[in-house]
Amino acid sequence: MQHNEVSPADELGDESRQFALLLDSVTDYAIYMLDPRGYIRTWNRGGSRIKGYDAADVIGTHFSRFYTAPEVERGVPARNLETSSRDGRFEAEGWRVRKDGSRFRASVVIDPIWKDDRLLGYAKVTRDITERYKAELQLQEAQQTLMQAQKMEAIGKLTLGLAHDFNNLLTVIVNSLDLIGARTRDEAIGRYVMTAMRGAERGVLLTRQLLTFGSGQTLALETTDVNELLAENIELLQRAAGDLVHVQLELADDPLVADIDRAQFEAAVLNLVSNSRDALPPSGGSITITASCQQTRDPASRHDRTGHFVVVEVVDDGPGIPLEHQARVFEPFFTTKEVGQGSGLGLSQVFGFASQSGGFVQLRSQPGHGTAVTIHLPAREH
Ligand SMILES: Nc1ncnc2c1ncn2[C@@H]1O[C@H](COP(=O)(O)OP(=O)(O)OP(=O)(O)O)[C@@H](O)[C@H]1O
Ligand SMILES: [Mg+2]
Repeated sequence: MQHNEVSPADELGDESRQFALLLDSVTDYAIYMLDPRGYIRTWNRGGSRIKGYDAADVIGTHFSRFYTAPEVERGVPARNLETSSRDGRFEAEGWRVRKDGSRFRASVVIDPIWKDDRLLGYAKVTRDITERYKAELQLQEAQQTLMQAQKMEAIGKLTLGLAHDFNNLLTVIVNSLDLIGARTRDEAIGRYVMTAMRGAERGVLLTRQLLTFGSGQTLALETTDVNELLAENIELLQRAAGDLVHVQLELADDPLVADIDRAQFEAAVLNLVSNSRDALPPSGGSITITASCQQTRDPASRHDRTGHFVVVEVVDDGPGIPLEHQARVFEPFFTTKEVGQGSGLGLSQVFGFASQSGGFVQLRSQPGHGTAVTIHLPAREH
């Protein structure tokens, strides 16, 4: 794309040698000049360092080569020059492309250079801020994870208080119903008592789930090989998933030993499989349960210590979870299902079980590309 025309920008050529030396010794900034149409006229060492091109590669070519293809298509480079000459400056952050095709986060300033009323060209300063950008993203993610953890802790406390109170009330109700049932010979009253009892028992079940979520249930810990337990449960899980959904088990080669409450673990995996089944279309789909051991750390914990975790992941190829729901699905009673179809306590049980066991849960889901829920449980140290 050699540009041979004589343009006003040729006047940019006669800078003093000292000034050229100064510019060239700056290596943290790409500082170069463009002619009024965006063709590169000068180059410095910072440009070579940041973008990977030598002066000979780029001088005389159009500066749009540093932009990503979609931006070039949308006419962004020309628009940025326009903004600069119209407003007296263009300043932005964006992705740019190096010679080797890799991308970097750039902070860009384009200043127009005027002589009297004539536009001679542009001075362009680019800085590579990829590291800072990544650090900011990481910080944001960490803050979000922490906020999410604090929110769940608050909901957990509230839930626990409520569940205890309800449990006490329900105990009174169930005991009284028992007494009434035992003393009456009236059949009609007997039926009413039975109905009331069923309602109360459902209430007891719900409060028990809430207690689990609020870590208020005592865990019955047993040293367990999670591989084995999953293998024992596969038929049950396959039955829960239905005929059109294929449940696949990918177990680890070595035993995965952890001290867990087996019943709670089984309930958690069943909850995940049921969620996947409900999310999959009527035509079916697949669910993969993977078990492995990983050295990692709880992203919500305040320290950096890593530990060994038994990791059980349930993945489906269903529709995924919309972004706006992802932060809420672990809350008790959050459900998108119709009344009677779901109580919104499945993932709360998974969450409560994992955190009470000293582990944590992670959710990865991309709308349109399935869902993966991962339970991390502290592995038993040998
Ligand atoms: N695998 C999944 N794919 C798509 N959405 C899911 C998946 N798992 C959970 N969800 C969403 O998260 C919500 C909450 O799930 P959760 O298991 O806590 O409650 P529920 O399934 O609605 O009711 P319950 O489990 O009590 O019967 C669901 O209503 C659904 O919108
Ligand atoms: Mg569920």
